[in-house]
Amino acid sequence: MASITLHLSTYFFLFLTLSATDQHRQTTFIVRVQHDAKPSVFPTHTHWYDSTLASVSDSQILLSSRIIHTYDTVFHGFSAKLSALEASKLESVSTVLSVIPEQVRHLHTTRSPEFLGLKTSDSAGLLKESDFGSDLVIGVLDTGIWPERQSFNDRGLGPVPVKWKGTCVGFPCNRKLIGAKYFSAGYEATNGKMNETLEHRSPRDSDGHGTHTASIAAGRYVFPASTLGYARGVAAGMAPKARLAAYKVCWNAGCFDSDILAAFDSAVSDGVDVISLSVGGVVVPYYLDAIAIGAYGASDHGVFVSASAGNGGPGGLTVTNIAPWVTTVGAGAIDRDFPADVKLGNGKLIPGVSVYGGPALAQHRLYPLIYAGNEGGDGYSASLCLEGSLDPKSVKGKIVLCDRGINSRAQKGEVVKKAGGIGMILANGVFDGEGLVADCHVLPATSVGASSGDEIRKYIMSASKSKSPPKATIIFKGTRINVRPAPVVASFSARGPNPESPEILKPDLIAPGLNILAAWPDKVGPSGLASDNRKTEFNILSGTSMACPHVSGLAALLKAAHPEWSPAAIKSALITTAYTVDNRGETMIDESTGNSSTVMDFGAGHVHPQKAMDPGLVYDISSYDYIDFLCNSNYTTKNIQVITRKHADCSRAKKAGHSGNLNVPSMTAVFQQYGKQKMSTHFIRSVTNVGVADSVYSVSIRPPRGMNVTVEPMKLAFRRVGQKLNFLVRVKVAAVKLSPGSSMTKSGSIEWSDGKHVVTSPVVVTMQEPL
Ligand SMILES: *[C@@H]1O[C@H](CO)[C@@H](O)[C@H](O)[C@H]1NC(C)=O
Ligand SMILES: *[C@@H]1O[C@H](CO)[C@@H](O)[C@H](O)[C@H]1NC(C)=O
Ligand SMILES: *[C@@H]1O[C@H](CO)[C@@H](O)[C@H](O)[C@H]1NC(C)=O
Ligand SMILES: *[C@@H]1O[C@H](CO)[C@@H](O)[C@H](O)[C@H]1NC(C)=O
Repeated sequence: MASITLHLSTYFFLFLTLSATDQHRQTTFIVRVQHDAKPSVFPTHTHWYDSTLASVSDSQILLSSRIIHTYDTVFHGFSAKLSALEASKLESVSTVLSVIPEQVRHLHTTRSPEFLGLKTSDSAGLLKESDFGSDLVIGVLDTGIWPERQSFNDRGLGPVPVKWKGTCVGFPCNRKLIGAKYFSAGYEATNGKMNETLEHRSPRDSDGHGTHTASIAAGRYVFPASTLGYARGVAAGMAPKARLAAYKVCWNAGCFDSDILAAFDSAVSDGVDVISLSVGGVVVPYYLDAIAIGAYGASDHGVFVSASAGNGGPGGLTVTNIAPWVTTVGAGAIDRDFPADVKLGNGKLIPGVSVYGGPALAQHRLYPLIYAGNEGGDGYSASLCLEGSLDPKSVKGKIVLCDRGINSRAQKGEVVKKAGGIGMILANGVFDGEGLVADCHVLPATSVGASSGDEIRKYIMSASKSKSPPKATIIFKGTRINVRPAPVVASFSARGPNPESPEILKPDLIAPGLNILAAWPDKVGPSGLASDNRKTEFNILSGTSMACPHVSGLAALLKAAHPEWSPAAIKSALITTAYTVDNRGETMIDESTGNSSTVMDFGAGHVHPQKAMDPGLVYDISSYDYIDFLCNSNYTTKNIQVITRKHADCSRAKKAGHSGNLNVPSMTAVFQQYGKQKMSTHFIRSVTNVGVADSVYSVSIRPPRGMNVTVEPMKLAFRRVGQKLNFLVRVKVAAVKLSPGSSMTKSGSIEWSDGKHVVTSPVVVTMQEPL
């Protein structure tokens, strides 16, 4: 909750303390208009919106239309730059429902198909049954795409699906990449005209992120694929035959809400089946959140939306993109890594990872080792190896230990190299924990965990005082597979609880997101640095940005196999079949601590594509259920209308109970203790039979430890496919001793099984002691 309060108060603070000149400073707002109220004198909505704007305008002279984008598919209204005064005048216009300040968002393989059990030789497998998803279109909202990649070739693909209405702007499409558009008006309204030597005014990707995510979702088979010799093998996306449409919304200065909403609008009217969004920002209530609003509209049109959970882990309450109609994806490590160990002068070996691909250091020699933070000058900047902070006199010919933070990991390597260093050891901070991310550094370099960093610093300290000065080398060991344990929750993966709706479990699940090989543009070096002129067809990146498109591709395969499934049904299938144990048979560990992870880290668990194909039962959700949920979350009818475009009747919903009754495939209870002895709640759920007729499911309950969970009835007998049956889950708990303001979370599960399918839902209970 903290982040929401903070955001809102800054916003209102701005409004209250505006000086006379600030009153006229313009920023972008997204305006929701009651669009069926257009007076007939206006030939189009744009004319009407222009006239509405003119009526509140500060300036008497109307030069040209001030409208940045108009929206009419997932949202009704427009965006424009407004002064604070104009924005508040606009809010009082009767046909204006809401004036939403714009947020700027930021960007948050391949062995992963094999790791996920998607083998082409497996004739009964998901890829075969769904004809690889060839009639499905995945829309990727990102930094654009580099079309001339093997991953986007259209060999053997049939004609473009007839329903497709999209186009390609700026370069020709093929039967694989069937749509490409860019949305820059919102970006340029705030940032000024873009510099076209630095970025392309077209869907062409000048960053690499969008090319990478698109090929994870739907890249074709490419062999051989590797990055600088690492991760050699067949590269393929999750849905190699699905079609791609790239919607470029992210530019050098970020991704602007007004453009993101325009891309949602366009993608849905073009006819995409899935939207993949590896972008995020600050959590705000859904009616102020352009991504939540766009995603609602998409899901209302039957389009599945997956989004990255964010890279703010391992701390709690860091998860973003948390609307219940979005599938929120955290990141896990697969069973492959790139060991590059540090050997210290005292003989100690310290584990690290790297995908550095240039000439290695001599194996049998040790090099002088320094910690830049010890070398005088501005110790803090130097410890982080910031630009200009290193003294070439002390760095030349040495391996430099740098701490993570502020500048990018690859940039630190560049700084060390420029100062004459011959290698780098990159140490995590306490906050990063023991999670390791491999990078394509421009000099021999490796990453080590926080405790290893401490150990190396200690060694440097003591060796400096001794007769044998500190020395080290880095031993690059290439690619290692069948690593155990796997999967592991990635350290950076953002965690629950859900800051906006604590009764909705987020993240929903995790998918591979650590060290993922996927396609990369020609014009960008693998380190992403401007000075890096290396060319690679593929690059290895990490982030929940990489996890999200795995789920987007899988959703396309599921939709191909089950065209009648709603976005909520697809999500349910992914969630109820996810697993929580690793390849040692134990609960997945959290990379940041090495301890067991929990539902707040992985949601329902790690995706299991084969099982998601045939889940037996699904928890389905209609648009009306979401309205009931928003009513029960105490949103006003006006705010609900901003999100849903429908007039909400909340009297019906209030009778139905509480927001935890939304038919999601998990049950999360939050109790405030207030000195009570016993507390209880219930959840009403409805499951739809998507398996076979005449099947009988019985429930098994694994209550959170010390708590009582009952399910009524305990058997569900389905006569036909498509039939829905309801059940009730009761949770009873006794108060526990907690210090004021603290909380405790425990989880269990309920499982419905007919002997063939197992339909698992997490049951999560949080007890909070009020302050
Ligand atoms: C655009 O970027 C290039 C390369 O950094 C620079 O030389 C040029 O001055 C920039 N142009 C403008 C108009 O800022
Ligand atoms: C991890 O487990 C160890 C040993 O059980 C425990 O001492 C430590 O506090 C745990 N760390 C976290 C962050 O939970
Ligand atoms: C909504 O308001 C009711 C009545 O004040 C309260 O009992 C309930 O807890 C609120 N629900 C949420 C989700 O804030
Ligand atoms: C849970 O069930 C047990 C056995 O029926 C009972 O003794 C206990 O009081 C129950 N606990 C709660 C919190 O209701």
